[in-house]
Amino acid sequence: MTVPFTDPELSGRTAVITGGGTGLGRAFAKALSARGAQVIITGRRRAPLDEVAAETGATVVCGDVTDPAHVAELARAAGKVDILVNNAAILGPVAALGDYPAEAFEQVMRINVDGVFRVTQALLPALQRSAPGSVIVNLSSGVGRTGRATWGAYAASKFAIEGLTQVWADEQRGEGLAVNALNPGGTRTAMRASAKPDEDPMTLPTPEDVVPALLYLLSEEARSMGLSGVSIDARDFMT
Ligand SMILES: NC(=O)c1ccc[n+]([C@@H]2O[C@H](COP(=O)([O-])OP(=O)(O)OC[C@H]3O[C@@H](n4cnc5c(N)ncnc54)[C@H](OP(=O)(O)O)[C@@H]3O)[C@@H](O)[C@H]2O)c1
Repeated sequence: MTVPFTDPELSGRTAVITGGGTGLGRAFAKALSARGAQVIITGRRRAPLDEVAAETGATVVCGDVTDPAHVAELARAAGKVDILVNNAAILGPVAALGDYPAEAFEQVMRINVDGVFRVTQALLPALQRSAPGSVIVNLSSGVGRTGRATWGAYAASKFAIEGLTQVWADEQRGEGLAVNALNPGGTRTAMRASAKPDEDPMTLPTPEDVVPALLYLLSEEARSMGLSGVSIDARDFMT
């Protein structure tokens, strides 16, 4: 299935992309900048963020999504926010739950779930001021819908993302702030290579192949039908 939509024009809009220095976040930052958005990218390592900033003109706010001071700084630096892409996450260990280290479980949940909660809560007033037409996109995963052995805390964290997306969407229903989830599917990034070291990355779609699904969630078609509280698959938007 390929879903038709009009490529969004994003001049005058501000987009915050967490984890915008690498992989999918980097492709999203480039795509939204190319469509005229003012993009703000975050991440813990400055070097990849600076590279993306040099290519796109994005603003860098370096820090950890689990750090309240960083999240407050992000809200201050952004000011106006029309689009929030909660993309930052870690994989954690690939291990059966029986052997899964408890500290690693907590760390994955802290970054992948608490981090999304904190960033979204901090930026919510700005997103509400930009409504109608503001959008939150939360990066999910196939293992956030069907649990699979050895995906551990990562899978549990993505189930939580699906849940947070639905709760937030329900709370914002009728307010003109859409909240949706996006499952990129297996994509050629460092995270996927850690999860599946034996896989040939050249067999996978690239981060750029996932961009159309994000653009759909930002499109006039999605806005006019009031699309919110859903979880879409990037493969439905790949040609
Ligand atoms: N690639 C796939 O096959 C796939 C499939 C399904 C879902 N996803 C989801 O897609 C999203 C992007 O993943 P990716 O594949 O592009 O992986 P990636 O290249 O590892 O990107 C993850 C990004 O998150 C940032 N990050 C991690 N922890 C952070 C923290 N505590 N605070 C701030 N930033 C943090 C990382 O930067 P720093 O390390 O510098 O902080 C990095 O830029 C994730 O939500 C992932 O779960 C990916």
